[in-house]
Amino acid sequence: MAKPATLITGASGGIGLALAEIYAKNSHPLILVARSEDTLKEIAGRLQKRYDIPVKPVALDLSAPGATAELNSQLAADQTPIDQLINNAGFANYGSFHSIPTDRQLGLIDLNVRVLTDLSQRFIPILLQFPNSRLVNVASTAAFFPGPHMAAYYASKAYVLSLSEALAEEYRTTHLAVCALCPGPQKLASKTVPKCNVQG
Ligand SMILES: NC(=O)c1ccc[n+]([C@@H]2O[C@H](COP(=O)([O-])OP(=O)(O)OC[C@H]3O[C@@H](n4cnc5c(N)ncnc54)[C@H](OP(=O)(O)O)[C@@H]3O)[C@@H](O)[C@H]2O)c1
Repeated sequence: MAKPATLITGASGGIGLALAEIYAKNSHPLILVARSEDTLKEIAGRLQKRYDIPVKPVALDLSAPGATAELNSQLAADQTPIDQLINNAGFANYGSFHSIPTDRQLGLIDLNVRVLTDLSQRFIPILLQFPNSRLVNVASTAAFFPGPHMAAYYASKAYVLSLSEALAEEYRTTHLAVCALCPGPQKLASKTVPKCNVQG
């Protein structure tokens, strides 16, 4: 069987791209998901060439109806083994609560909470098939306290942290490790590798 891959959502820029670089450097085959098809293809080609690993770009709007099911069935059809899922895709809204358009707030909850929960549920049965598998949910230092003017974002990250801590306990006796990554505010230049302690 092919070496299992690491699936990273939101890998076309920012923290997701930085994680993809680190995992690639550590010889992990990758599946990279984001909406920007051309950017993903360029990243996949570059990482593949530089680190000699297979990298599959999947251009998908994860918030679109049926997108998570489509991703799951596409990877199942390809028989792609996956032993790590990094739920990284997410965004923030800024401003006084009532001034942020409702569809932006609900879109945030949809991507940061629903999609992350949905992908975790769909992929945990696959992750459980492999020794030393990992589910990494990208939360934030915002997970630890309320955030006026970013209220829904902070609340969404509190959910991610709480869910991840509960799952870590649920799967403690299995080969699956679940963790929340809680970065502070980042200033990442696109397509650069930040100084970071995360090991792939
Ligand atoms: N930046 C920070 O300071 C910071 C701090 C703590 C935690 N975080 C968390 O870290 C994660 C990444 O943040 P970031 O700052 O690196 O974000 P970013 O630079 O804006 O990148 C977000 C990534 O998610 C993808 N994405 C957005 N909406 C998507 C959708 N509907 N479907 C599929 N992919 C989608 C984007 O690609 P496309 O546009 O191509 O789809 C991009 O690859 C988020 O969960 C964020 O909350 C960020």
